[in-house]
Amino acid sequence: MMLERLRNRRVLFVGDSIGRNQWESLLCMLSSALSDKAAVYEVNGRPITKHTGFLVYRFRDFNCTVEYYRSPFLVVQGRAPVGSPEDVKITLKLDQIDWTSNQWVDADLLVLNTGHWWNYEKTLRGGSYFQVGDEVKMNMTVEDAYQRSLETVLDWISAHVNMSKSQVYFRSYAPVHFRGGDWRSGGTCHLETLPDLGSSPVSLVHLKILTDLLTDRSNQTGKNNLDVLNITAMTARRKDGHSSLYYLGPKLGPAPLHRQDCSHWCLPGIPDMWNELLYALFLKRDSVQSRDLTNASCVLC
Ligand SMILES: *[C@@H]1O[C@H](CO)[C@@H](O)[C@H](O)[C@H]1NC(C)=O
Ligand SMILES: *[C@@H]1O[C@H](CO)[C@@H](O)[C@H](O)[C@H]1NC(C)=O
Ligand SMILES: *[C@@H]1O[C@H](CO)[C@@H](O)[C@H](O)[C@H]1NC(C)=O
Ligand SMILES: *[C@@H]1O[C@H](CO)[C@@H](O)[C@H](O)[C@H]1NC(C)=O
Ligand SMILES: *[C@@H]1O[C@H](CO)[C@@H](O)[C@H](O)[C@H]1NC(C)=O
Repeated sequence: MMLERLRNRRVLFVGDSIGRNQWESLLCMLSSALSDKAAVYEVNGRPITKHTGFLVYRFRDFNCTVEYYRSPFLVVQGRAPVGSPEDVKITLKLDQIDWTSNQWVDADLLVLNTGHWWNYEKTLRGGSYFQVGDEVKMNMTVEDAYQRSLETVLDWISAHVNMSKSQVYFRSYAPVHFRGGDWRSGGTCHLETLPDLGSSPVSLVHLKILTDLLTDRSNQTGKNNLDVLNITAMTARRKDGHSSLYYLGPKLGPAPLHRQDCSHWCLPGIPDMWNELLYALFLKRDSVQSRDLTNASCVLC
């Protein structure tokens, strides 16, 4: 039914590797409905492996594509301005949307995410500073930079995306579950086999920055052109859903104890639920839009 609804349409996931995880989940869910597996293929013949750039899968009989664009920050990362302090190796240009955005513009269903790279380790520590206009903001915090980049994303949507055609969602942050360290310092999740049904605190920092910004904007403009796919709290409970030790696959054996993956998710698994929610939101809006179209044509006749 979803493929039928997606006929002649483009579905795009844009963001970091957790977005890729969700994209892969949707590809699997949709292809499971096809008996002819050759009827879905990557348009450039690229294999599904970890790499930069983008991947476009076409469902031949539906003229529909399900695409992934890698853009962990959603904004441009590039050369630092001439004359920057020596510490500044590279900058994140918080006021410039990623250059591949010209490919996202036409999507019928656009699912953005960012978050996992907005931390000290993946920015300032490696000499990636924040830039607005020509100025490198030497003292800007990662949180402020994250917020500034989201403003850029919202501005881009207002200026470039046709909201009568495109549905745009921002998938909220998916919590990680490293116990006893982080991903570089021996954190693990390999003995987790049950969800957390207690009431462990969930970090809602990213979600709060986003929802405050959206409230602020809709207060100013009276409209909201971005819906949040709010999966943070429900996902926080699924410490048992990660690829953990099994990441390297059956041939290579388990990952070393001190290098396990407690950020990405096994498939089938948790991202399938995000896509079920996404489908529900999509259906809800799609039926409103097609009702509008039907009404419009009635007025014409
Ligand atoms: C296939 O879908 C694209 C939009 O994604 C549309 O522009 C094109 O006309 C469609 N082709 C056919 C044969 O319907
Ligand atoms: C950055 O912070 C340092 C120390 O707090 C201060 O000395 C410096 O003037 C600040 N620089 C800017 C550009 O605000
Ligand atoms: C926006 O999309 C709608 C529905 O597809 C279309 O009718 C309209 O012409 C588009 N507007 C612009 C400015 O392209
Ligand atoms: C936005 O408007 C709502 C309802 O009018 C109000 O409760 C809220 O405080 C406002 N938020 C901001 C950030 O102005
Ligand atoms: C997100 O969903 C959780 C429940 O899963 C809810 O408690 C929280 O208020 C929601 N947050 C927003 C901003 O919608």
